[in-house]
Amino acid sequence: MSDRGAAARSCLAIVLAAGEGTRMRSTLPKVLHVVAGRTLLAHVLTALARAGGTQTAVVVGPDREDVAAEAKRVAPNAQTFVQAERRGTAHAVLAAKETIKKGADDILVIFGDTPLILPETLARLRGALIDGAAVAVLGFRPVDPKGYGRLVTQGNELLAIVEEADATDAERAITLCNGGLMAIAGKYALAILEKIGNVNRKGEFYLTDAVAVARGMALKAAALEVSEDEVSGINTKAQLAAAEAVTQQRLRAAAMEAGVTLVAPETVHLCADTKLGNDVTVEPYVVFGPGVTVEDGATIRSFSHLHGAHVGMGAIVGPYARLRPGAKLEENVHIGNFVEVKEALIEAGAKANHLAYIGDARVGAAANIGAGTITCNYDGAAKHRTDIGAGAFIGSNSSLVAPVKIGDGAYTGSGSVITKDVPAGSLALGRAQQVVKEGWAERLRALKAVGKKGGKTPG
Ligand code: UD1
Ligand code: MG
Repeated sequence: MSDRGAAARSCLAIVLAAGEGTRMRSTLPKVLHVVAGRTLLAHVLTALARAGGTQTAVVVGPDREDVAAEAKRVAPNAQTFVQAERRGTAHAVLAAKETIKKGADDILVIFGDTPLILPETLARLRGALIDGAAVAVLGFRPVDPKGYGRLVTQGNELLAIVEEADATDAERAITLCNGGLMAIAGKYALAILEKIGNVNRKGEFYLTDAVAVARGMALKAAALEVSEDEVSGINTKAQLAAAEAVTQQRLRAAAMEAGVTLVAPETVHLCADTKLGNDVTVEPYVVFGPGVTVEDGATIRSFSHLHGAHVGMGAIVGPYARLRPGAKLEENVHIGNFVEVKEALIEAGAKANHLAYIGDARVGAAANIGAGTITCNYDGAAKHRTDIGAGAFIGSNSSLVAPVKIGDGAYTGSGSVITKDVPAGSLALGRAQQVVKEGWAERLRALKAVGKKGGKTPG
């Protein structure tokens, strides 16, 4: 890796995120589409943060507060610039002219729709500038080159990049394509960018013309080859799905490398921020949404869905469990089949093994939640809390109508509707009393036998 010296050089990274993404056929701006629970833009900004040492500028389209807000959320120090009209990638870079003028040693241009880029590749690209190139680009050989610019080379020299729409048949046959990322020596950047014209099929200012312009100024251009996985640009939903597949593979490999047991890795869906501890076992068909942490030794059983949840050491979740945002399970908690937990703290050793909904609640240590228990947290207008004490025993099919408190060690009888607080150590029954009518069935049959109809039943 030729990133030696890069640390001493200043770098401005310009992320282009103003394109309309028409090929996505979506109302959502392209860079806000999601791969592994993270927007495309966030993937790019995260790679930049990991590469380190860069100032970041994000170029967004007019009236795209949503894109600007996402940039701010992920990279609070990034500056945003608005490209008022979409007139091409070089035009977009120049929207950040004010900050380019400040004269960073290296300028990196990254597309917001290239989320698979790795931090070490960004360092390699800057390395080419240290080696004397004024412009460096990433080349790759895609299985299907459709839509990509082609790198025109002569020996080791990069002569130009030709966009597909403008390519001759011979140029279109070139298999080495433009990955889209570019490093430009800061001292030449403005001179090069301002010389780029728009005489081409689309009438756009193409950033790719920087190569020919630099050569025209007797400067050097270089191409580094990388794998397709890293630079696949996302223009369509099919490419979005392909990027998801590559990302999932990377995340699973990293998890296993870190000591996680994935029984059937190809069936587990992870998020970029999923944190799994040592000796965590994930059974087949588990989905991790954003914001999940699982501590050492916990087991996530098949068909569970977790999102915004914390699972403590040694806990067992599932099969078929649903943990929603704010679910916090302490160590050795058991959450079993068809149990949903939302915004609730389940303290150490507590169990809810079957068919329950626990929302807006605290369940004390070692409490037992019977099958079919529901915290009735919503009255149609507001959410209310349920507090269950340590060691409490909630009988099966209890409805706990919040706000309500069940004291430590208290019991609720099965089938109870609990509307008032239950003091510690007591039993609460909130159900109709059972009535037994002896001999009733026999009397019914006798009535039927003499032909009495009309729905009458014996007393
Ligand atoms: C671009 C390259 C092509 C390369 C491919 C790699 C150019 C001219 N072409 O083509 O050589 O093979 O990427 O994926 O650079 N954008 C703006 N403002 C604009 C236009 C685009 O901000 O006016 C942004 C888009 O949001 C996107 C990026 O620039 O993030 C690239 O634009 P896109 O339209 O996807 O370019 P491609 O046709 O993919
Ligand atoms: Mg693209």
